[in-house]
Amino acid sequence: MKGGTAKTTTAVNLAAYLALGGLRVLLLDLDPQNFATLCLGLDPQKVKCSLADVLLEERSMQDAVMSTGVPNLDIVPSDRRLASSDVLLADVPGREKILKGRIEKLRHRYDHILIDNPPSLSLLTINALIASDNYVITVSPSFLSLVGLQSLLETVDVIKKNMHSRVELLGILPTMVDLRLKITTEIIDLLRLHFKEKVFKTVIRHNVKLLEAPSHGKTIFEYDSGSMGALCYIYFGKEFLSRCRS
Ligand SMILES: Nc1ncnc2c1ncn2[C@@H]1O[C@H](COP(=O)(O)OP(=O)(O)OP(=O)(O)O)[C@@H](O)[C@H]1O
Ligand SMILES: [Mg+2]
Repeated sequence: MKGGTAKTTTAVNLAAYLALGGLRVLLLDLDPQNFATLCLGLDPQKVKCSLADVLLEERSMQDAVMSTGVPNLDIVPSDRRLASSDVLLADVPGREKILKGRIEKLRHRYDHILIDNPPSLSLLTINALIASDNYVITVSPSFLSLVGLQSLLETVDVIKKNMHSRVELLGILPTMVDLRLKITTEIIDLLRLHFKEKVFKTVIRHNVKLLEAPSHGKTIFEYDSGSMGALCYIYFGKEFLSRCRS
């Protein structure tokens, strides 16, 4: 529900880490701003079938899957029409479960399906929660509001109860962490005190290479595999996998 906390950066680079490790990965770009699509070097203008066609026009998910420059990593790109989905789907019965239904036929083809969410609570995010087994919250300590985080968790609980969803919080990931700032370490300590082992051990450090990579249409592993940003996403990827297994 918060903008600019590295949701897309995390979705793209986690997807790339898993795929480079030999797992079959699909990334769904559910954000009408289509930043994940751009980060993987695809031109949204040239996309023939997007997630908007799948959710709004009843095209099949298979039609919208595209391969990327990263081996084993496929993407379903986004386009701006997704921004109107709340209005366009308002009268559709079962509108909260469309994504879950469309993913079903593809599930067996992938080891992991990741969804990059837009920064607001909408029909799109509700669809994502209902389609998912787990979710990850990214938190940038400099913008952190513990109250906001608590209210996000409560909102998810309300959605779970009302929609009979079993989605579980996999963990809270601190991102864009600048350890030179005293306030940052204080906030991370506070996060761990409050949310205990739900906070991932890994933190994603602020790193200029992570900021630069998207403008080259590359993941951090293609852009600078020796950077601190790449290292952070390797550590996070390992921790992500161990939590998925347990
Ligand atoms: N660890 C990092 N160090 C430096 N810059 C970062 C880092 N992580 C992300 N960024 C940059 O911060 C900006 C916001 O990141 P990103 O787009 O991933 O956030 P988001 O949560 O997906 O935003 P939105 O809510 O708009 O979808 C981007 O320009 C991204 O390149
Ligand atoms: Mg984003």
